Amino acid sequence: MKKKILVTGGIGYIGSHTVVELQNAGYEVVIVDDLSNSTIEVLDGIEKITGIRPPFVKLDLKDKEGVGRLFEAHAGINGIIHFAASKAVGESVQQPLKYYRNNIVTLLNLLDLMPSNGVQGIVFSSSCTVYGQPDILPVTEEAPIKPALSPYGNTKQINEEIIRDTLHAGAPFKSIILRYFNPIGAHPSAEIGELPNGVPQNLIPYLTQTAIGIRKELSVFGDDYNTPDGSCIRDYINVVDLAKAHVVAIDRMLGSKSGENLEIFNLGTGNGVSVLELIHGFEKATGVKVPHKIVGRREGDIEKVWANPEHANKVLGWTAKESLEDTLASAWKWQLKLRERGIQ
Ligand code: UD1
Repeated sequence: MKKKILVTGGIGYIGSHTVVELQNAGYEVVIVDDLSNSTIEVLDGIEKITGIRPPFVKLDLKDKEGVGRLFEAHAGINGIIHFAASKAVGESVQQPLKYYRNNIVTLLNLLDLMPSNGVQGIVFSSSCTVYGQPDILPVTEEAPIKPALSPYGNTKQINEEIIRDTLHAGAPFKSIILRYFNPIGAHPSAEIGELPNGVPQNLIPYLTQTAIGIRKELSVFGDDYNTPDGSCIRDYINVVDLAKAHVVAIDRMLGSKSGENLEIFNLGTGNGVSVLELIHGFEKATGVKVPHKIVGRREGDIEKVWANPEHANKVLGWTAKESLEDTLASAWKWQLKLRERGIQ
């Protein structure tokens, strides 16, 4: 029988791409999402790509009774992938309680209700933000956790600890924590992609909106960092590659192979790319110019971080495959599709 996976935040950016890959791999998916930062039309995109419209439950996971009813209505959930969370770094500084409540209470409710509902494991969406500015690059999973620079980052650290403590106390399930570097791009079909709400805070949606003329110019936050061209360096990973890693993680967690009850993996390409390199890469991949100017540094930015993905490569047998060029082209194709649809 097909294994059933509950994907929280499955209408969101990484969530929707993961639902597609899970369904393509033969998993049965149930999506729960409160649509606070997404629109239900994403379900149409998922259906167009996979031919399957997964059941969707609109629910705020802070509602514990609601979560209980969800497990009853969709009995037999084998595993959870928990994406649902608030993720705007700046907003988290302004509204810390919203972030602590949304990102922590939701996890607590899931962990509380997993044993009585027979759920065997949870994959948790964490972030390379837990490493802060690493002392050694590329960064491995053993690198020390640095004090968080925002309430958002802190919720990722706290949630990792909550999972660790819960398993240490003998909870009857497993967990895999995935630390994402910078996911970008869209599904090659351009049926799903990133849908930022309002003015984008992240680099790629701002860049593609500038390239298409919605924004006048892209601000490059600083060119005086200690990097070859002075702009910050990140590890940009294709969102479909990232989604595929979740399928492998679920296979492993729910299969009998893994002995450990908690495992942590970096999900990145292993390549550091600067903001200026990314802009030029986009222009090369698409032939479209990106008006940009150098401005001051953004508060709280890390100078440089990229992954050592060897642990995921070896243990999960997963490697990021898509080239940066194809990934940037997919982000552009998605932006063009949004214009076609009259969305942005
Ligand atoms: C940020 C968070 C990260 C979080 C992610 C999710 C920090 C330190 N990191 O990642 O924890 O998981 O968002 O949203 O807050 N840039 C520009 N101009 C722009 C936008 C960005 O130059 O208009 C630069 C930034 O300075 C940075 C790079 O582009 O060097 C990537 O920025 P962004 O896409 O916002 O991601 P992170 O800051 O790496």
